Amino acid sequence: MKIAVLGTGYVGLSTGVCLSEIGHHVYCIDINEQKINNLRNGISPIYEPGLESLLASNMTAQRLQFTTSLEEGLNDAEIIIIAVGTPQGDDGAADLSYLEQAAKDISKYVAASSIIVIKSTVPVGTNEYIQTIIEAECGFPVQMVSNPEFLRQGSAVQDTMKPDRIILGSNDKTAAEKIREMYLPLNAPIILADIRSAEMIKYASNAFLATKISYINEIANLCEVVGANVEDVANGVGKDKRIGEAFLQAGIGYGGSCFPKDVKALLHTASLYQVDFSMLKETIAINDNQQKLLVKKAVKRFGDLQGKKIAMLGLSFKPETDDMREAPSIKIAHSLTQMGAEVVAYDPVAINNAKQVLGDIITYASSVYDAISQADALMIVTEWKEFTQLDFASLVKKMNHPIIFDGRNCLEEEQLKACGNVEYYSIGRPV
Ligand code: UGA
Repeated sequence: MKIAVLGTGYVGLSTGVCLSEIGHHVYCIDINEQKINNLRNGISPIYEPGLESLLASNMTAQRLQFTTSLEEGLNDAEIIIIAVGTPQGDDGAADLSYLEQAAKDISKYVAASSIIVIKSTVPVGTNEYIQTIIEAECGFPVQMVSNPEFLRQGSAVQDTMKPDRIILGSNDKTAAEKIREMYLPLNAPIILADIRSAEMIKYASNAFLATKISYINEIANLCEVVGANVEDVANGVGKDKRIGEAFLQAGIGYGGSCFPKDVKALLHTASLYQVDFSMLKETIAINDNQQKLLVKKAVKRFGDLQGKKIAMLGLSFKPETDDMREAPSIKIAHSLTQMGAEVVAYDPVAINNAKQVLGDIITYASSVYDAISQADALMIVTEWKEFTQLDFASLVKKMNHPIIFDGRNCLEEEQLKACGNVEYYSIGRPV
């Protein structure tokens, strides 16, 4: 099939690349010339495992092309996938301005037979709203399919190639059938729904996962005071198939470009309809509190942080990504430096992006060893695999004080024993 994908962010690019991998002819379109030029040279704008190799092979196979021109990209496209950003607006609602613009822009080039698929995360009613914009501009009826995306950053390729399910929401059976055919090579379960339910499935999923994280974090905080171990608790609880083991990892809260924004957007939708979704307010409040936990623990331990050198391991909101959006490291860095501490941070891939967000309020180290040298305490903020495999026994010897605040429960008991006299604080564990 001939497919055009608008927007080359995480969702658009991963979708475009993976659809070409399963044999479709894909044109990825973006207004950012620099991005498109880089992509034409096989350079991905995002750090995402496996993406660049698929990019190269599908471009070589001439199934994948990039352009800034809508006319070129939409020419002959049977399916137009919109995957532009819907960032958080000032009032918590999703900002639909990129989507509205995309709708107006494509209207000049859509054909009566083309199917328009919205992959961007959009509040209930948006597909219908966008349809009215396009139809008003082009002057004929178009077919819409809501196809929300469930890929995670850091495993975008794997999630796109092997999705748990594909949701297709449409009020038009033929259009939904065509998109089902597009996805057939993936061999994934396909769920058909009406267009509003499909939109809701996306928010209900993300808000549920965010709430699951806040729930286990509250359990962790309780475990800490009663002397239980949240990892054992999560393991025991998660083995119940009705609950499931995933997303029960306690830590310093969720971040990223999705959960914080989507939970607020769902809350905003509820308030628009005078529904008091108070549980979501708690999900957010618990997460805000959780992101402050390491700093609270440090204050409790040191009293005054003035002049203390804190080594921070990890800056990105989670491992395997360079994305800094809503990363807990941001709040932690601000709080520590406001209290007069000196922060020296290391991250395997996110330092460039962190510099855009945190500027020179912290120092950036080129290795774990540089960050940790002469530190008064170490804070583990992102659970990069390479951090879990570090030789902590020799690392702590380079510190002024062997004190570790582990925000992601990365260290195991044996590693700690090998460290000797280390002071160790984690989340919800008695160690
Ligand atoms: C999330 C969803 O998992 C995807 O299904 C969805 O498609 C995506 O949002 C989106 O809406 O685009 P993502 O934000 O990439 O994906 O990352 P996750 O792996 O879900 O992690 C989100 C945050 O939760 C991270 O900060 C992570 O550290 C935290 N987390 C996750 C925990 O604190 N504990 C856990 O057990 C799991």
